[in-house]
Amino acid sequence: MVLAVLAAALGGAVPRTPVPATAKHTVTYDKYSLLLDGKRTYIWSGEFAYWRLPSPGLWRDVLQKMKANGYNAVSIYFNWAYHSPKRGVYDFGGVRDVDLLLDIAAQTGLYVIARPGPYINAETSSGGFPGWLSNDPGRARSDAPSYLAAADEWMTRIDAIIGRHQFTEGTGTVILQQIENELFVTGAAQQRYMLRLARRVRADGITVPIFHNDVGRNGYWVPRSSEVPGTVEGPTGLYAFDAYVGPQRCGEAPKDAPDFGLWGPGGAKGGASASPRTPGFTAEFGGGWFDHWGGPGAYPCLAREAGSGYQRVFYGTNIANGLSIQNFYMTYGGTSWGWLPSPVVYTSYDYGAAIDEARQPRPKATTMKQLGMFVQSFAPLTELDRGDPVTPSSAKVKVYHDVNPHSGAHLYVAMHHPSSATTDDAFTFPISTEDGDHTLAVRLNGLDAKLLVADYDMDAQHLVYSTSELMTHFAGTALFHGRRGESGETVLRYPSAPAVSGDVRSSYDAATGDLRLTYVHDGLTEVRITGGGRPPLTLLLADDEATATLWRQDTPAGPVLVSGPALVRTATYEGSDLLLSGDTTGRTSLRVWGAPPGTRVRWNGRLDGADPVRLPDLVWRSSPGSPEADPGYDDSGWQPAGRTTTAATTPPPPGEPVLTADDYGFHQGDVWYRGRWTGSVETLRIRYGGGGAGLAQVWVDGAYLGQNVLPAGKPSPPRTATATFTVPSSSRTAGQHVVAVMVRNNGHTQDVYADDAHKEGRGLISTSLGAAATWRIQGNLGGEDPADPVRGITNAGGLAGERAGVHLPGYPDAAWHTAAVPAATAAPGTTWYRSTFRLAVPAGHDASLGLTIGDPGTPRSAARYRALIFLNGWNLGQYIADVGPQGTFVLPNGILDPHGVNTLALAVTSDGGPGNGLEKVALTNLGTVRGGVDVPLVAAPAWAPTGG
Ligand code: GAL
Repeated sequence: MVLAVLAAALGGAVPRTPVPATAKHTVTYDKYSLLLDGKRTYIWSGEFAYWRLPSPGLWRDVLQKMKANGYNAVSIYFNWAYHSPKRGVYDFGGVRDVDLLLDIAAQTGLYVIARPGPYINAETSSGGFPGWLSNDPGRARSDAPSYLAAADEWMTRIDAIIGRHQFTEGTGTVILQQIENELFVTGAAQQRYMLRLARRVRADGITVPIFHNDVGRNGYWVPRSSEVPGTVEGPTGLYAFDAYVGPQRCGEAPKDAPDFGLWGPGGAKGGASASPRTPGFTAEFGGGWFDHWGGPGAYPCLAREAGSGYQRVFYGTNIANGLSIQNFYMTYGGTSWGWLPSPVVYTSYDYGAAIDEARQPRPKATTMKQLGMFVQSFAPLTELDRGDPVTPSSAKVKVYHDVNPHSGAHLYVAMHHPSSATTDDAFTFPISTEDGDHTLAVRLNGLDAKLLVADYDMDAQHLVYSTSELMTHFAGTALFHGRRGESGETVLRYPSAPAVSGDVRSSYDAATGDLRLTYVHDGLTEVRITGGGRPPLTLLLADDEATATLWRQDTPAGPVLVSGPALVRTATYEGSDLLLSGDTTGRTSLRVWGAPPGTRVRWNGRLDGADPVRLPDLVWRSSPGSPEADPGYDDSGWQPAGRTTTAATTPPPPGEPVLTADDYGFHQGDVWYRGRWTGSVETLRIRYGGGGAGLAQVWVDGAYLGQNVLPAGKPSPPRTATATFTVPSSSRTAGQHVVAVMVRNNGHTQDVYADDAHKEGRGLISTSLGAAATWRIQGNLGGEDPADPVRGITNAGGLAGERAGVHLPGYPDAAWHTAAVPAATAAPGTTWYRSTFRLAVPAGHDASLGLTIGDPGTPRSAARYRALIFLNGWNLGQYIADVGPQGTFVLPNGILDPHGVNTLALAVTSDGGPGNGLEKVALTNLGTVRGGVDVPLVAAPAWAPTGG
């Protein structure tokens, strides 16, 4: 057999610019909020998984998009499995360079909530436990010594990196660290484990507050001591919980938003009230939901249904409930590339999130920007008490009322009653503040909420109230918004009558000092208010559509507001020039508020739409790929599979050999078995583990017997199956026979219930041949020492083609025959296809490209086959034609070379029936902008000959 030897790495790396150390800082808290250096700070965070985006250059793209869209923090699960192919071996380089990630987060101006597990769940294989942990005899997530030793190994290494980026140490922006995740088994063994984890984290030099993410709201792992907050002794200092209470299925009726804080229900299971001395904190609040193998292809509709209305109602309810740390899971979901998926999910982990898998901000990102800018601008939110009840004029709506006890500012959150109602209701409600009694006229049309403020000192101005929603403000500028076509009223107080210009009606009441502005939200209205005894104010009144192209950027010389481009990523001053960078999707003008007079504005390129991107047709070569099925195949180099003990929860019957792949160091991807027995059998029964939509294919003496496919679906599809095959009469003879079995392992089960579910066997578990057969097993090249450490353990599988490097760029396929795609027929087993193509994306553009197999209009086809998709050697996902629903796969730049030659390799595994061959395959454009960030190619080895 020809083994792949990896040539010198090609490509570049994202240069690391460590964050310069500054003075130390403090992170403290009380019942209202976090205090960073003593300053109350609302944390508006989005979940991002670097390991679902294997191109470090793109991390900056996504984090900049988050920052620009109103987030001030990013929450990150660190995935143990992603970094550790083998006990004691850890990799934090290349696509695993989390030092770089944390630098980029700091440079982007995002605080970091670090969530390194050890267990993370996250719909990833084993919930983030490394494959080798399947062989550990100790009960995971308990105080079993061997498990604790393993967990220590990981925590010490990841803590060392996180520790280097702590805000408290003046070397980064990490402000909080989570231990474990949703551990709802809370016996003595778990109590000791959690305490030990917390002590480990402290011993490793983590000085930021520690919390846990309580599944739902059980009141588990609340801070234990009654001491002063911030000095709590116990596993946690803060209490956090998660909540997935929004849409999870397409077409579901909207749900009512629950109260998790100030407004009930109270008690240990009341959300924030479980921990009355710490701030209300959702470690995860649904930003969408995941779709599953065989699912409907839910992401586009989930993005709409968990869109603007849902966000305003649910996140707004959290704000009204005084929660001051909110993290939205996911904000960019990304790609479960390679063998990252848990058995339930397919490759795309788009999640219907604010930023789609192809890195395109969705309309719902604009709502996040409105809310995120609001929570950061309206400081009173970080200290809210319940206000007096407010009775609106209509019973079909309700209005939450909170007050800041210090500033006296008021918050009113109006929504339908129940909040799930979608009627069109115009109503009024009375407010009573230090500024007097007023009546606000508001409308709610459809699933919606309005977050309104009153009696608020806004820089040098005083806001009496507004029926428009405050988005942001800084000295001289304030931005409010509302639904297009709805009327609005904003009242500001002035010692004397000011001059007002702009498209609004205004009146000044000398008795009260109230300047009343009335208007209709329609595009962007600029109102200029001068005189009146206060500094001038530019009041911007936007409809929601107009806010999509309004961006706030903070520079050392103060904030600016920019309108026009599709995205503004950065703003810096160079002398009196304001340098802006960002993206455009069409010809646009640029307007800037907040820059000093005389500032010259420069933009990174043309303010224009994107040039067309030409995508080549793909031309294919093909070669058979299941030589292991041949009776004469030389398997002498394979490991004998004759172990007698296993840590798997699925041992074989006593006396039979242990066959499960993990026991032989093969933890992911495809495994092959070859067994020999003597004598005649009529049928062959196998029990195997393959995760959701996993599969086994069986040959006896070279004849294909068939395949068995595990069911797909939710919530927990069977991940093991027993299948019986008829042995052909030609093999029912005395003498020796050879059985060859390929098992596709679609991931290890997550350990949700802390019952070692990740140790459920993968590959063959047992067969009807019992102890009568002798077996050999083959998996990914190198096993726990993967031959390609750059692409790493996540990439690797055990097909002969993968072991030979067929998937790598440069593999010599000249002798392969040219192949027609779509293919009319297919052979049983695996067939490889390769295509090399050149791209010439115009310079200065960010084209997000994808690969579409089959008919993009349907979630699944009748063809019974599946394909692993390798781009330039990287396994970017699995298409299963008849299970679906995914047909389009994102090809991330950095792995993809947008300006050069690329190689696609598909491992097509079919049952060989008619029509079960590769369908149409085409490159697709998933969104192109003029702009983007620099994305170096990810350095990774190409194929090189071994000479033998
Ligand atoms: C949460 C869990 C996450 C993820 C999420 C669903 O309960 O903490 O890791 O699994 O559910 O996407």
